[in-house]
Amino acid sequence: MEVVIRQHEQQCGVTAADIVADAVLSGATTLGLATGSSPLSVYRALIRRHRQGGLSFAAAQAFLLDEYVGLPPSHPQSYAHVIRAEFTDHVDIDSERVHSPNGVADDIFVAAREYDALIADVGPVDVQLLGIGGNGHIGFNEPGSSLGSRTRVKTLTEQTRHDNARFFSGVDEVPRHVITQGLGTICDARHLVLIATGSHKAEAVAAAVEGPLTASCPASVLQLHPHVTVVVDDAAAAHLKNADFYRYALKYKPAQQKY
Ligand code: GLP
Repeated sequence: MEVVIRQHEQQCGVTAADIVADAVLSGATTLGLATGSSPLSVYRALIRRHRQGGLSFAAAQAFLLDEYVGLPPSHPQSYAHVIRAEFTDHVDIDSERVHSPNGVADDIFVAAREYDALIADVGPVDVQLLGIGGNGHIGFNEPGSSLGSRTRVKTLTEQTRHDNARFFSGVDEVPRHVITQGLGTICDARHLVLIATGSHKAEAVAAAVEGPLTASCPASVLQLHPHVTVVVDDAAAAHLKNADFYRYALKYKPAQQKY
């Protein structure tokens, strides 16, 4: 696991965007996208690079990590809508090739299995962006999620509903159920890039990177993956015991990865 510590959120965004851009320029075509506040600086940097020229997503397809049950893609807080507004509408990716779980399917349990099968069919995901919840969740895999889980319907914890209430008019509006890629599904991606900024993420980052491998901190599953980059700002790195070591570690060279 490579841990990159940058001073500010915006620098974290540029670092993570460089990783995605290098992958795309090296032939990566399948991107895993995340929502929430954490990846916004990454999307802004990618949009900038696209507008400056030389970075095209025309050959790319993308898979979202998760979706709220009951919110159609037209709902402003559905993740299908958010990813369009924040990223995909601003680059040249084919919108038909931006996939997300169907949270309004007649049978959401079948929809979850079909989404998993689609990723397996046309994947693997080359680069997967991830944020992390304050309780260590990735995607919507709340504490207690099986470390080998596949895409499925999950129930949100009250903490996550409260954390996400800022996007809605109140906590009562936050759906209780979601469809999320499982931890096993996420770990099928070839390169995982987790971005976390701010002191409110420091504890979860330390638990994920340096804590025990445990379903109580779903993000600790990253410790099992062969290629993970964790990009954090100083505030989110504050509880890392080995921060100095990470600062001096040799950096991974993107050109070594072939897609
Ligand atoms: C949500 C999303 C996650 C995201 C997490 C953290 O629950 N499902 O994918 O990583 O929130 O969000 P934020 O980046 O806004 O702190």
